[in-house]
Parts: sequence; C-alpha cells; structure tokens
Amino acid sequence: MRTQLEALQQASLARLEGAASVADLEQIRVETLGKKGTLTQLLRGLGGVSAEDRPLLGELANGLKTAFNAALAARQLLLQQREMDLRLQAERLDVTLPGRCPPVGGRHPISRALGEIIHIFSEMGFPPATGPEVEDDWHNFEALNIPADHPARQMHDTFYLPPGPRGEKRLLRTHTSTVQIRAMENRRPPLRIIAPGRVFRCDSDLTHTPMFHQVEGFLVDEGVHFGHLKGILERFLHLFFERDLPVRFRPSFFPFTEPSAELDMGCLFCEGRGCRVCKGNGWIEILGCGLIHPAVLDNVGIDREKYSGFAFGVGVERMAMLKYGINDLRLFFENDVRFLEQHARL
Ligand code: PHE
Repeated sequence: MRTQLEALQQASLARLEGAASVADLEQIRVETLGKKGTLTQLLRGLGGVSAEDRPLLGELANGLKTAFNAALAARQLLLQQREMDLRLQAERLDVTLPGRCPPVGGRHPISRALGEIIHIFSEMGFPPATGPEVEDDWHNFEALNIPADHPARQMHDTFYLPPGPRGEKRLLRTHTSTVQIRAMENRRPPLRIIAPGRVFRCDSDLTHTPMFHQVEGFLVDEGVHFGHLKGILERFLHLFFERDLPVRFRPSFFPFTEPSAELDMGCLFCEGRGCRVCKGNGWIEILGCGLIHPAVLDNVGIDREKYSGFAFGVGVERMAMLKYGINDLRLFFENDVRFLEQHARL
C-alpha cells in the first residue's frame, strides 16, 4: 500500500506537471480525486489495513492529497495565466484604427436647389406659402384666366380625379400659380409670397417627367411695374448661380399675365459663345413671368385700378441641372445611388 501511495504520488504530480490546459487539469483531478479516482480508491482501501499501519498510511495518504491539491492549484494558476495571455494576444484590439462611420444620408439635389431658392427669396421678403396638390378647376385654370376651351389648356394636360364633394372638377395641379389665387382670395395686398411645390402634367419623355417642381413667386401692391420684376429676378439669379450673367426678357404669352415674358440668361457654360447646352445661341431659357393680368385681379376681388402685381414661375429641376451640371432630367428620379451620392450634401 505504501509503495502504491508513493507511486501514485509520483505519477499524479508528474501528470499535473505535464498538463497543457486547464481542461487537462480538470481531467486529472477527476481521475485522481473524483468518485472513482485512483487516490479516492486508495483512501477507501485504508479501512482494510491493520490498525497498526493505519495511522502512518493515513498520514501519508492525506499528505499526498494535500500535495496533489496544492500542485493542482499552482498548476491551474499558471495555466490560467498562460491561457489569458494567449487570448489577450489573439484578441488584441488596435485602438488607433480609425472608427467605422455609419452611413449618413444627404439631401437630394432637387431638395437642395429648392432650399436655396426658398432661402434667397425669404431674404428678399417673400415668405413661402403652400397649396394643395389635388386642385379644382377654378384654382388651376378658371381663376387664372384659362377658360374651359382655351388652347393654353392643351399644354396643361394632367391627371384627373373624380369630382369633389361639391361636384367640382378635380385634378393634380399643373403649376404652382394656383397658390397665387389661394393667397389673393384669402388676403389683401400688399402681398409678397413664394410657393414651392410639386406639379403634374401628362408628359413623359427625355425632357419631361409627369411630376416636377416649381417655385411660384408673386407680389401685389400699389404701383408695381415691370422694373420691380426685373430687379428681383436679376438679384435672384445672381445669388443662385453666384455669377453675374446678362438676362433678357423675350415677349411670351400666359393667360394670367399681361405683358408676359420668358426670361433668358446668358449661358453658364459658354458665357454666350454658344455651346451644346444653349444650342449654340448663347442664351438659356430660365423661367416664365409677367405682370398679373387685371382679369385675374378681378377674379379674386382685388381692385385692378389700385393694385398691380408681378408673377413668375421657376422650374426647380432645370435650375438644379444648370447649377450642378446635371445633363439628364431622368437622373433625378431613377434613384441610382451612385448619382445620389455624387450630388448629395447635408
Ligand atoms: N405657371 C406658368 C407655367 O407653369 C409659369 C408662370 C408663372 C408664368 C407665373 C408667368 C407667371 O408654365
């Protein structure tokens, strides 16, 4: 028994020494001191030895147990330390690496252009106003001096809805001039407003989309004349394009303005020499405008003898294309992320 104990002591301590991991140690502990472990069995066998030998053997066995436990604890500490070192090495974090940026959205070029236009006019004292996109015939046509059989309606073919609660014809508005009527019906001059928003036309080709954006601007007061309109628009174009380009007014026709004009601006790309964008003539068509037709003032009950006004309508897509150098209208609405990322700003 004594030799068995001594052999076991040597063997188990040697095994502890040779253990390579904390898991190995546990295995050795179970095999030595577990229920069926070698040392446990020897200890159990002590009951069968003579009373004479028992104290000595008992002491020896207990000594072995203590020595084993001590060696186990020491080895465990060492191996745990080593395993921790290895993990620290393997899972090392380089805190000097740059962080990962979460993707940040940006504003669509149409929203940017719209924001800039609104900003410029707000500073010139034109606060923004809105109107509904689903309009009635009165606000979109009749009140703007476009009667049912007027040829100008042809250019404003749109999407029609079932009649409203009072039987009124309803449609998606074809221009933001509707907001002129709504503002003048509800308020009295002096009036100064811009009306940004979506408009709709039954049109879809290379240069037309069924939905696009306009900003309407108008002013009604005593003694308003064409010079005021010219001054405001020149200032606006100067601030929007951050350039000083010549402008010219070409006679035109809108049923709700008299006189009416198209405003052209010297081509941004060739400065008037002639290029593909201006089709060689040095001028780019920018917007429609004019003095508010007296018939429109009559329709909203504003005294045509006392008041006069001007109005203009700017296409936002066109302004964005010119300012940001975008050459295809469809890019705005295809939602190709490569295009959006290229033009998005916060
Ligand atoms: N409403 C016109 C259009 O959409 C533009 C315009 C507005 C012209 C105001 C003159 C005055 O074509």
